[in-house]
Amino acid sequence: MVYTNKKGDKMIILMASMGNNNEIGKDNENLWSLDFHKDKFKQEVEGNVVVMGRNTFNELPDELDNTKKIVLSKTRKFNKQLGKDVTVVDNVLDLIKKCRQLSQKKDVYIVGGESMFNLFMDYAQKMYITKVDKSVEGADAYFPEIKLQEWDEKVLNKDKEKDTNFSFVEYTKK
Ligand SMILES: NC(=O)c1ccc[n+]([C@@H]2O[C@H](COP(=O)([O-])OP(=O)(O)OC[C@H]3O[C@@H](n4cnc5c(N)ncnc54)[C@H](OP(=O)(O)O)[C@@H]3O)[C@@H](O)[C@H]2O)c1
Repeated sequence: MVYTNKKGDKMIILMASMGNNNEIGKDNENLWSLDFHKDKFKQEVEGNVVVMGRNTFNELPDELDNTKKIVLSKTRKFNKQLGKDVTVVDNVLDLIKKCRQLSQKKDVYIVGGESMFNLFMDYAQKMYITKVDKSVEGADAYFPEIKLQEWDEKVLNKDKEKDTNFSFVEYTKK
């Protein structure tokens, strides 16, 4: 099922950083800390809506003010207090309904982790991916396969931070 926006709607956007094998995490932590990705992330999502699974929320730095956060969780095992800008949803159907509703007014960014990228790959119209030129042994969370027959791929930036090469790639649904 592909979710298409009504005219004038905003978009559902996936945003992630991943390695050469689509790896995104290990032991519930990110694999790298790139200032480029952090800045881009903040710049993109601020003032919009971010959607994430409980594990990602538990490790999210508390600096996304002015950004509505929707968290998917049945257990509600949170390791921090939930601010006024956090809404917890306990099932996928309600989450998708909420995203469709919210994306009429603001862009909705799906920001991880693996479970959320899998759930929303077919609903997104755009993806912003920081592709990091590293392969991480023992990674245990992955971004889904990007089928290039379904997405237009455009490299927006290529750069290097310390010893890490990366590119910033925009994917637009065909
Ligand atoms: N590189 C990147 O861009 C990036 C971005 C984000 C995260 N990550 C990495 O990704 C990894 C985490 O991914 P993850 O998949 O383990 O965790 P996650 O997607 O952040 O959260 C998983 C949790 O979401 C809830 N959930 C997921 N599907 C659900 C459903 N159908 N119904 C109800 N609740 C549901 C469950 O919470 P409950 O158990 O409470 O029910 C589940 O335990 C970490 O290593 C993290 O560092 C990487």
